[in-house]
Amino acid sequence: MAKFCIVLLFIVTQGLAAPYKSSNGCGYDSCNLGKPDKLNVHIVAHTHDDVGWLKTVDQYYYGSRSEICKRGVQYILDSVVAALMENPDRRFIYVEMGFFWRWWNQQSDEMRNIVKQLVNEGRLEFISGGWSMHDEATTHYNSIIDQHSLGAEFLHDTFGECARPKIGWQIDPFGHSREVASLFAQMGFDGLFFGRIDYQDRLFRTPEKKLEMIWKGSANLDRQSWLFTGVLPHGYSAPLSFCYDIMCSDPPIMDDKNLHDYNVPERVEAFIRAAHIQSLAYATNHIIMTMGADFQGQNVNENFKNLDKLIHYVNLEQVNGSNVNIFYSTPSCYLYALNKAKKEWITKTDDFFPYASIPFAYWTGYFTSRPALKRYERYANNILQVTRQLNGFSQMNLRNSIFYLSEAMGIAQHHDAVSGTEKQHVANDYAQRLSDGIDQSMEVINAAYAKLLSKEGQTQLNVPQFLCPYTNISECLPIEGQAKFTLTLWNPTIHSVTIYPRVPVTQEYVIRDPIGNIVPAEYLPISITTKNIPGRTSSAQYQYLFQASLPALGYNTYYFEARANANKIKRRRVKTTFNEACILENEHLSIEFDGQGHLKHIVNLDKNLMVSFTAQGFYWYASFPGDPTTPELPASGAYVFRPFVSEAVPVSLSGSINCTKTDTVQKASIVFNDWVSQEFSLFRGATSVELEWTVGPIPIHDNIGKEIIIRYNTNINSGSKYYTDANGREVLERIRDHRPTWPYLVDERISGNYYPINSRIWIRDNDHQLTILTDRSEGGGSMYDGSIEIMVHRRILHDDSMGVGEALNETAYGTGLVVSGKHILLVERPEDSARLHRVGAQQLFMHPLATYSLPNTPSYANYSNIYRQSWSALSDTMPLNVHLLTFDQLTHKQYLVRVEHYFELNEDEIYSQSVTMDLQTLFKSIGTIANMTELVLNANLPLSQLHRLDWMTKDQESSHMNIFQSYSSNGTTLTLYPMQIRTFQITIN
Ligand SMILES: *[C@@H]1O[C@H](CO)[C@@H](O)[C@H](O)[C@H]1NC(C)=O
Ligand SMILES: *[C@@H]1O[C@H](CO)[C@@H](O)[C@H](O)[C@H]1NC(C)=O
Ligand SMILES: [Zn+2]
Repeated sequence: MAKFCIVLLFIVTQGLAAPYKSSNGCGYDSCNLGKPDKLNVHIVAHTHDDVGWLKTVDQYYYGSRSEICKRGVQYILDSVVAALMENPDRRFIYVEMGFFWRWWNQQSDEMRNIVKQLVNEGRLEFISGGWSMHDEATTHYNSIIDQHSLGAEFLHDTFGECARPKIGWQIDPFGHSREVASLFAQMGFDGLFFGRIDYQDRLFRTPEKKLEMIWKGSANLDRQSWLFTGVLPHGYSAPLSFCYDIMCSDPPIMDDKNLHDYNVPERVEAFIRAAHIQSLAYATNHIIMTMGADFQGQNVNENFKNLDKLIHYVNLEQVNGSNVNIFYSTPSCYLYALNKAKKEWITKTDDFFPYASIPFAYWTGYFTSRPALKRYERYANNILQVTRQLNGFSQMNLRNSIFYLSEAMGIAQHHDAVSGTEKQHVANDYAQRLSDGIDQSMEVINAAYAKLLSKEGQTQLNVPQFLCPYTNISECLPIEGQAKFTLTLWNPTIHSVTIYPRVPVTQEYVIRDPIGNIVPAEYLPISITTKNIPGRTSSAQYQYLFQASLPALGYNTYYFEARANANKIKRRRVKTTFNEACILENEHLSIEFDGQGHLKHIVNLDKNLMVSFTAQGFYWYASFPGDPTTPELPASGAYVFRPFVSEAVPVSLSGSINCTKTDTVQKASIVFNDWVSQEFSLFRGATSVELEWTVGPIPIHDNIGKEIIIRYNTNINSGSKYYTDANGREVLERIRDHRPTWPYLVDERISGNYYPINSRIWIRDNDHQLTILTDRSEGGGSMYDGSIEIMVHRRILHDDSMGVGEALNETAYGTGLVVSGKHILLVERPEDSARLHRVGAQQLFMHPLATYSLPNTPSYANYSNIYRQSWSALSDTMPLNVHLLTFDQLTHKQYLVRVEHYFELNEDEIYSQSVTMDLQTLFKSIGTIANMTELVLNANLPLSQLHRLDWMTKDQESSHMNIFQSYSSNGTTLTLYPMQIRTFQITIN
């Protein structure tokens, strides 16, 4: 984002052992800590390089498309190295590994050696060190951890310990998540600095010197999640009139008295004044001044030359009594100075959402912007994790081929990528990268399956597997008309699962399960809604739907064989009603609709609980178009959600409803109008209801932008409270029109109550809880007691003036983009809800991966002789509250494994207990664990070598903890506490 800038921060280590000491001069020991009796100003020279926004990542790297903006990251890095070489006092920080890696690959050995020297001497410091500066509202924790690990691995392998990032630097993201603070703390970071905070929050914190604090990042993990957090004084740019970049127009320091325009006294005085003003908001005699902004530093000589002089002349004033002492520093050195100040700090336990930059400008639209890209990113992660598992369990050692997808995912986490706040051509580029990465991963998937599918004694037969990514619109062209094909489903979770695959076909088949039994499958017509989705080219009119029970961490293959004589087929019973009231029912749930398609009740039959609904369905807010006469009122746009009026309008007061009942599924399909429909599915044995929504093309012929929500109005007595998750993990309580840490002045009744929903939202009363799981990040909240609303799609005709300069007006196939997605509805008692939503959310983001193949075997018997049709890496049942987060083969004998407890404290009687597991069970099919080392979360340091800085809170709580008291482990057996993630490097025999 161009309008704001920030600074960075950094870290320190201490604790049991001596602080990390570098013989070279990197690390905290090499920090300039200023003068105790002065106001010490840490000058931080930096650049903020978006890995894609107005231009694609590579356009920014090279500096092409200069008609959009004249910026090239390669020139910035060239120029920084040269400027640092010139003066050993200078410091610079670099953040985005996606760019640095591109640049490094193109450097000579000589240049690389120079850079290594700068890093070892602490003159060039890597801060945060993720592949990108990730978004915090719309990202999933799995991918945040991965993208930080990717950057950390590159830095570790290239530079060693001097390049280990020690602080988080989130200067531009639009709101800050508590889960991110927790993850950063677990990566061993000592602090976090960011630039954007709600304007009201800043107003309250500033006079009370509360912009720096200890953030308690987790309600479950205690001090290992605490993170010192600082809010930068004014975004991340230079203080007013001190920007010396070629893109700025502030006066240089003109210091030759023989020339005209000598300005040293005026500039020194102005700077000293700025330092004094800034210090009013901060608690110690140290302040940080960021000198840099978006893509600054292309000719960084200009910046440094003036900063050199500024430092010289400002410090000269000390002889005249000035108390301002200024010097080149880094965010980590600033943090270290704060740590040395031995102060007691205020604490924070909630988060920094939502974010309003100015009155009426709530940045809550991006929680939903570009819903298709948001889903594709989540899907790509699903494939990435499956690919790693397949590579690891088949021991193919093909990690290099997975790098493409890891790299694309790292870039997609950027705060203008998955957030949906980039220009359209850049969004296309992100999707293209993910798609290319998935293609590369298919080579690994194929190689792995060639091995796993071949029965012992058989030579490996490669039957290429392929994805059918369009099965969400009931299209799989490669199998159309085929006499036989297979469907193999890999379950990436460590628990067996039951799913209901849908296979669109152009003829009838017999389906056999892995032991040869004929699978009872429903043969259902594909809905008109689906068939009308623009771009669908399939001629399939029907799809099979069947129950597939999959082994833990393993696969089943289903064999499809065309029926010889379709006339003889005895069709399974299908009962359909048109525009009549209907009830979907299985042994656990009953869902009732009236004849106009209104959802009336969901009854949990096991618990005898009923939740009643009124006017459930789709509504739209008119987007505020902006008004030239009131420029202070922002338009709705890619970032900002600003409804014209605080009322949403129903898309239609009633719909047509068809109900279809089979043995496997009961469905209610409701069409509200020609651009909005929903289908409820209740599967046999299911304890949840699935709602599939389809929205688009959103009409704009009335010249009004529209933001589409699904609203669930219930009789639950929820008051003003609702609950949303952070990055797919811990859940935070939200209260309508309320902020936990300041007296909130409500200026936007709707938008100011929107929060990110990465995986779930719920409302509840004493007896009932309605939880809704989402298949991607969306925005939403509770605008009325008993009501949940979730925004699913937006089409807007104006720009919100926050920088992207384009209307969010997504189109495809010549018309507005059609998007579909899923909500999973759970009705339970509050005390029994966690096991449903925890397991349900885990299965949504780590869904079994379907691959197809066209075998050349003459018959099923022949196929089953040659191929293994079912396999599991596990032979023991794993505890339900453990999730395998990462399984990544590093080298021939080495693996990176993360396991996590994914329940919170006190949310379930059984599963909120700590749990013990044996890592050896995961390696049963591979070998015996010879050695295992526990690592920090981003896997760049043995946990035993981590010494974080200690802090003290105003309540006299010390952040100090002895890691080995908490992390006991015995052989390969370990204990996990609620919400704990543990990371191991494992060597096998
Ligand atoms: C319901 O079925 C009728 C007859 O097959 C069809 O014309 C109509 O489009 C269907 N409506 C929905 C909502 O699926
Ligand atoms: C939105 O997209 C439609 C279809 O491509 C186009 O006709 C219209 O001009 C666009 N409007 C804006 C404001 O971008
Ligand atoms: Zn940015």
